[in-house]
Amino acid sequence: METISFARGIPAPECLPVEELADCARAALERDGATVLSYGSAGGYRPLRDWIAAHHGVDPTRVLVTNGSLQGMVFLAERFAGERVLVEAPTYDRPLKILAAHGVETTPVAMDDEGLDLDALTRALERGRRPAFLYTIPTFQNPSGRTLSEERRHRLAELAREHGLLVLEDDPYGLVRFDGEAPPTLFELEGGRHVAYSSSFSKTIAPGLRVGYFVLPQVLEQDLEALATSTYITPVLLGQATVFEFLRRGNFEPNLERVATLLGARRDAMLQALERELPDARWSRPQGGYFIWLELPEGTDAAALLDPAAEAGVTYVPGTDFGGAPNTARLAFSFVSPDEIREGVRRLAALVREPLRV
Ligand SMILES: Cc1ncc(COP(=O)(O)O)c(C=O)c1O
Repeated sequence: METISFARGIPAPECLPVEELADCARAALERDGATVLSYGSAGGYRPLRDWIAAHHGVDPTRVLVTNGSLQGMVFLAERFAGERVLVEAPTYDRPLKILAAHGVETTPVAMDDEGLDLDALTRALERGRRPAFLYTIPTFQNPSGRTLSEERRHRLAELAREHGLLVLEDDPYGLVRFDGEAPPTLFELEGGRHVAYSSSFSKTIAPGLRVGYFVLPQVLEQDLEALATSTYITPVLLGQATVFEFLRRGNFEPNLERVATLLGARRDAMLQALERELPDARWSRPQGGYFIWLELPEGTDAAALLDPAAEAGVTYVPGTDFGGAPNTARLAFSFVSPDEIREGVRRLAALVREPLRV
C-alpha cells in the first residue's frame, strides 16, 4: 500500500512550471551568462534585487537575496547568537533548530485562531531579557495555516514601534491565496523600520531554485551582507536570474493563479474529508498556503499515533514537533492529490476513532 503523505510540506510536481523554467534558465544564460556565471555581489543578482526593491518600495541596498529564505534565517541567527528571540507557539520547526544551534533562547508566545495572542506577547516583552526580535509567520502560518487578523496586525505594528521591537515577518505563503482578500502585511503597516520582511519564490515558482529574500531595516543591512560574503561570496545567481526572467516575461501572475487552482482544490478536499470523517476534531480553515492544523479530541496523542498511522498508510507531522499540544498535528495538503487526501483522511480517522487511542 502506498503511504499517503500529509507530512511533506512541498508542492505537488504538477505545481512546478518545469518547461517555462527550462526556457527561462536558457534565456537568462544567453542574455547575461558572463555575469550569472561569475562571482557577483553578496546581495544577489542585481536585476532581481531591483525588482524586489521596487515591489516593496525600498532602496535595493535593503534587499538581500539568499539561497532560500532559510539561509537568511541562518544569517540572522548568527547575527543574534546567544540572544533571546520570541516565537509563535506553534511555529515552523526549522528556524527553531537554526536558532537553537546558535545558542539563541526562544520564548514561545501563544496563538489562537486569529494568530498571535498579543496579550501574551506583551507579557513576554515584560519578562526576561530584552528580545532581539519576534519571529512571526502572519499569513497561512506553517504549521497552523492560521492568519493574523487585520485588527491584530495594526496592534502588532504599534507594539513594535512602542517597544522598539524588531519583528521578522516571514511571508512565503501570502501570495499563495485561494480565496478572500489579502490583509496588509506588517511590513506595509509599520513602514519597515521595525519590521524585517522575508519571502521566497519557493512556493510561488519552485523551491529547487533556492531563491529567497529579506527586506532589512537599515541597521541590519551591512551586517547581514557581510555574513553572506563570508559564507558564500555570492549566492547562486543562475536560480536568481531564472526567477528574474520568469518575472520579466509576465509568467508570475498566471503561475500564481494556476498554483492557487491546483492547491485550492486540495484544501477543499481536505476540509470536506475532515468534516465527513472527524466530526469530533477541530481544524483551521486557511484561505491559502499549504497547511491545516488538526486538533484531535483531548487526550489523543498524535505522536503516539504516528507508527500505527504509517502502518495504515498515512503520515503527518505531530504538532509537538512545532511546539504544539500533544493532540495536534500538521496536515499538508500541498503534495498529495484530492483523491489521496480523501483516502488519507479516511485512514487517519479510522485510527483516531478506535476507542483505545483516546
Ligand atoms: C514559514 C516558512 N519560512 C521559510 C521556509 C523556507 O523557504 P525557502 O525555501 O525559501 O528556504 C518555509 C518552507 O517550508 C516556510 O514554511
